[in-house]
Amino acid sequence: MKIKQISGNILTGLHRVLLHFGPYRKWIYSCGLDSLKFKRYYRDLHFDSIVGIACSDVDGYKDEGDNQKIVELVDNLARVVPKPEAVLDIGCGTGRYLKQMEVVWPGTHLEGIDISREIVEKFTCKLVPGVPIHVLDIEIDESFHIENRGKFDLVCMIGIIQVLSLKRVPGILDKVNVLCKEGGYLYVQFYVETEEKKSDVGYKRYSIEELETLLAKHGFTMIESARTDILKDYAYIVAWKTLE
Ligand SMILES: C[S@@+](CC[C@H](N)C(=O)[O-])C[C@H]1O[C@@H](n2cnc3c(N)ncnc32)[C@H](O)[C@@H]1O
Repeated sequence: MKIKQISGNILTGLHRVLLHFGPYRKWIYSCGLDSLKFKRYYRDLHFDSIVGIACSDVDGYKDEGDNQKIVELVDNLARVVPKPEAVLDIGCGTGRYLKQMEVVWPGTHLEGIDISREIVEKFTCKLVPGVPIHVLDIEIDESFHIENRGKFDLVCMIGIIQVLSLKRVPGILDKVNVLCKEGGYLYVQFYVETEEKKSDVGYKRYSIEELETLLAKHGFTMIESARTDILKDYAYIVAWKTLE
């Protein structure tokens, strides 16, 4: 059984029914941004693999009109990390941040990772054609970080940590630590907890302090953090891989 397309509303309505699809779950296709909520609803079912993202949402995924914000966010990051040799963007999506990194850091080696082959083929490969993009699930992949140990001066996690399975986040941060050079940087941009909102369906909101503590446990020391005025509801942390 393969479910190839599910819209967000249908998905929400179907979630109880889908709980009974246990034996078929490895065939269930995840979909667009809603796949991320979907994964969190079903994370306890341990999908063997989410084999692709196939969804009409993919067309609505490209966030037009945000370019100026991305320019400002990447400029701000470049103030702390002036000239990295190699950068990895985990959960790169359409590649809109990678595109701006090409401008800000000419000559820097850039790579991206995303779970969605459809997004990568439809957008990323066109927007940043020279950048290697690896289609893989950072939650379950067990080889990328070993093959690329210590390769990157900067690893970015932009808008992805809030959608990852909570129990997998510590393992992912260990992988990120392996990928980073000694003294390299980690940039996390995340959905921040506020007085009014501590969580949303399908998303985990972190406070800056909570994430800072988590990063420290996985070998990163915070250099700078702030709420971004540029993106509502987001904050960022730039951390440094703690020297052993
Ligand atoms: C909210 S989007 C942010 C995209 C991009 N960083 C940006 O800001 O434009 C989150 C991205 O993470 C990707 N993603 C989610 N879970 C992932 C996983 N386990 N492994 C790799 N990529 C994942 C999604 O496909 C999606 O493109």
